[in-house]
Amino acid sequence: MKILGIESSCDETAAAVVEDGRIVLSNAIYSQIAKHRPYGGVVPEIASRNHVAKLPGIIDEALAAAGESFESIDALAVTYGPGLASSLLIGYAAAKTMAQRLNKPLIGVNHHEGHLHSVFMKPDALSKDEAYPMLGLLVSGGDSSLVMMSGPGRYELLGSTIDDAAGEALDKAAAVLKLGYPGGPVIQKTAEGGNPDHIRFPRGLDNVDRGKWVYKYDRDLCFSFSGLKTALLTHVKNLDHAPEGDELRDIAASYQEAVCDALATRVERALKRFPIKSFACAGGVSLNKVLREKLTQLSGKTGIPLLLCPPAYCTDNAAMIAGVAYEKIRMGKTGPEPIDVNPNLRLADWV
Ligand code: KG4
Repeated sequence: MKILGIESSCDETAAAVVEDGRIVLSNAIYSQIAKHRPYGGVVPEIASRNHVAKLPGIIDEALAAAGESFESIDALAVTYGPGLASSLLIGYAAAKTMAQRLNKPLIGVNHHEGHLHSVFMKPDALSKDEAYPMLGLLVSGGDSSLVMMSGPGRYELLGSTIDDAAGEALDKAAAVLKLGYPGGPVIQKTAEGGNPDHIRFPRGLDNVDRGKWVYKYDRDLCFSFSGLKTALLTHVKNLDHAPEGDELRDIAASYQEAVCDALATRVERALKRFPIKSFACAGGVSLNKVLREKLTQLSGKTGIPLLLCPPAYCTDNAAMIAGVAYEKIRMGKTGPEPIDVNPNLRLADWV
């Protein structure tokens, strides 16, 4: 079965054709990073205007690269949340129109679910039967959470960030250090050869009094990066000069270490608590080398297999969306077609 996926939840305009959930026949992406770089972050109005301009060409490119046509695909899949409302609407309107015009099914997919699915998008990945129950660390630009996946379409949120996401913390740190946008890749590059122990930046939440904890999820499985960000800002303000050279490398390495350590520590706690067959990491931040090393070490230490997303599918893409849609169709869980986008869509079991 060949599915045309569409993704436009933030600043990537993407379309892909995927066969039987795993075989990626094409994966066309127009990244808008250069358009948003002058502003140091994503500007929703610019993002949605670019989706309007680029999506038709990206869909044509995905179909042509796959050797398919509108007529030959079996179904359409679209991200309908979470994300920026004005961006989601462009992909949704396009997919809905095509589905009606072609008289083909349209499957609505949760963007986070797409990221979690992306770890299966390589030929040698564990099968879902081998992987579940699986612990997922989702680290994208806008979200950091730990999810228990007991089976396809069965999710339990174990913990989440109470403030910034890890990607956001890296993006904001890069702005403080005047390194540019997006922050994750530039912090990683700047940190090369730096000393990660130069500054002991806070890891968040461990000193929060349990009696004063007001959130729904267990404190030990939640994340917080706002204190870390403030610690960096304070450190830089207290210097009487703008850091550069070795000093800048050491600061970037120490900051990156704190972000990755905070993430890996929560994963380690969850691995000890829950009986799982594998664990996974997905989303843009999962490209980070230090994080990958820490999680790989954890896998070696515990003997629990780790599924890492292939680099091409870590950041936003439509192949992961088509992949989830295939699973939904295969299990007869397509549900009612979404009647609108939902910028605050939560992960929910397929019913
Ligand atoms: O998953 P994604 O494309 O966006 C959302 O769905 O939100 O992730 C974007 C995030 C950005 O915050 C970016 O700084 C981060 O992924 N990122 C990285 C790396 N490459 C991208 N973070 C750490 N290390 C990287 N190499």
